[in-house]
Amino acid sequence: MEPYQPLSRSIAGHRAIVTGAASGMGRATAHLFASEGAHVAVTDLDQAKCEAVAKEIAEAGYSGSALPLSLDVTDETVIEARIKEITESFGGLDIIVNNAGFAIHSTIEDESYPGVWDKSVAAMLTAHQRIIRAAIPHLRKSSAARIVNIASTEGLGATPGNSPYVAAKHGVIGLTRGLAVDLGRDGITVNCICPGPIRTGITEAIPDEHKEIYAKRRVPLRRYGIPEEVAHMTLSLVLPAAQFVTGVAIPVDGGLTIKNA
Ligand code: NAI
Repeated sequence: MEPYQPLSRSIAGHRAIVTGAASGMGRATAHLFASEGAHVAVTDLDQAKCEAVAKEIAEAGYSGSALPLSLDVTDETVIEARIKEITESFGGLDIIVNNAGFAIHSTIEDESYPGVWDKSVAAMLTAHQRIIRAAIPHLRKSSAARIVNIASTEGLGATPGNSPYVAAKHGVIGLTRGLAVDLGRDGITVNCICPGPIRTGITEAIPDEHKEIYAKRRVPLRRYGIPEEVAHMTLSLVLPAAQFVTGVAIPVDGGLTIKNA
C-alpha cells in the first residue's frame, strides 16, 4: 500500500484578495482567513469601510493580517493597479475570492431593466474574469492557487423578477467551470459557492418575520444562514488539501435547492 499522505489544512502565510469584504460574507471570509494566518486584502467600494474591517481584524489578534484597499470591481482601470499593489505588498497571491455583489430586482419590461442588467453583469460576472485575468501570472507562481467565486442558488434556479441577477449568477457557474478546465494544467483550482438565504447587507431590509416565514416554507433547516457558514465553505475550498477539487458549484443553502414541496 502507498504510504498515507497527510495533506495540509493550513493557509497560514497564504495571500488572498476578497472583494466586497466590508460586509456580510466577504467580511466573514476576511476574518476567517486572517484567523487562519493568511494575509488578506480587504477590498470594497469604500476605503473607510475596508479600514474598519481591517481594524477589527487587527484588534482580534489573529496570526494573519489585513490590507484595506478600495476597489470598485466594475472599474476596469483600477483592477490591475490593485492586484499589483497587493502582490507587491504581500510578495505574491494565492487566493482570489470574487464575492462583491448586490441584489436589484427588475422584470423584463421595467424601465430600469437595461440598467439593472448592465450593472449586475458588470459587477457580478465581468468583474470576476477581469480580476482573475489580472491575477493569473501571480497565481501561477503559487504552490496552492485557489479561486472561489460566490454565485448563488439563483445560479441554479430562478426567483421571479430577478433575471439580471439570475443570469449573472448562472454565468458565474459557467465561468467557474470554463476556467477550471482551462487553468487545471497550472494547478489553479476554480470553484464556486451557491449560498441560499444568508443574513447579510443584501437581506438586511427583509423584516425578520418575513425571513422566518420564507425559511420555514422553503429551507429544510428552517432558517437563514449566517455569513460565517459560507466563509467556512470558502475556507475548505482554498485549503492546500483541496487540491483535487475544481469546477464545482457547492450550495450552502440549508437544503433549499433540494426541497421540492
Ligand atoms: P453584503 O451587502 O453584506 O456585502 C456585499 C458587499 O459587496 C458590500 O460591502 C458592497 O459594498 C460590495 N460591493 C457591491 N458592489 C461592489 C462593487 N462594484 N465593487 C466592490 N464591492 C462591491 O451582501 P452579501 O450577501 O455578503 O453578498 C456577497 C455575495 O453573496 C454577493 O455576490 C451576493 O450576490 C451573494 N449572495 C448573497 C446571498 C444572501 O442571501 N445574502 C445569497 C446568495 C448569494
